[in-house]
Amino acid sequence: MKRRIRVSALVGSLAVVGYLVAVAAIPTQQARPIAITVYKSPTCGCCSSWVDHMKANGFAVTVRDVENLTPIKAEAGVPGRLQSCHTAIVAGYAIEGHVPADLIKKFLAEKPKLAGLAVPGMPVGSPGMEQGTTKQPYEVLTFDTQGRTTVYARR
Ligand code: CU
Ligand code: CU
Repeated sequence: MKRRIRVSALVGSLAVVGYLVAVAAIPTQQARPIAITVYKSPTCGCCSSWVDHMKANGFAVTVRDVENLTPIKAEAGVPGRLQSCHTAIVAGYAIEGHVPADLIKKFLAEKPKLAGLAVPGMPVGSPGMEQGTTKQPYEVLTFDTQGRTTVYARR
């Protein structure tokens, strides 16, 4: 009788341990870094600031300094009118310019049939373009392989 009680107590505590291990595993999975490759000019300061923003938001960033970004933008299918200072590739998508990390994560989770996201130009106040308290409203656009765009977010 005593022995049976001990066994059920053991099974009970194993269940608790199992539950705690499972719960502890959830944030670990969410925090797994997302690999992204950033192509930028070696002298681009705001590009490096955006890389820092991405690292701070859990991305595993590989930086490729290149002298000429034009062929990379062309290969990534970034429409000319959307171009900015740097181009990144993540999970087969192109990320052009100072796109906020949270929107990239949302976009990746949605897995849309699109080519990527862009913040054309270099709006002041976007990630990596912080200049004091000045903030210029900007749009984050999706684009597809035909160069069609939609507004994904306004910041
Ligand atoms: Cu820039
Ligand atoms: Cu840049």
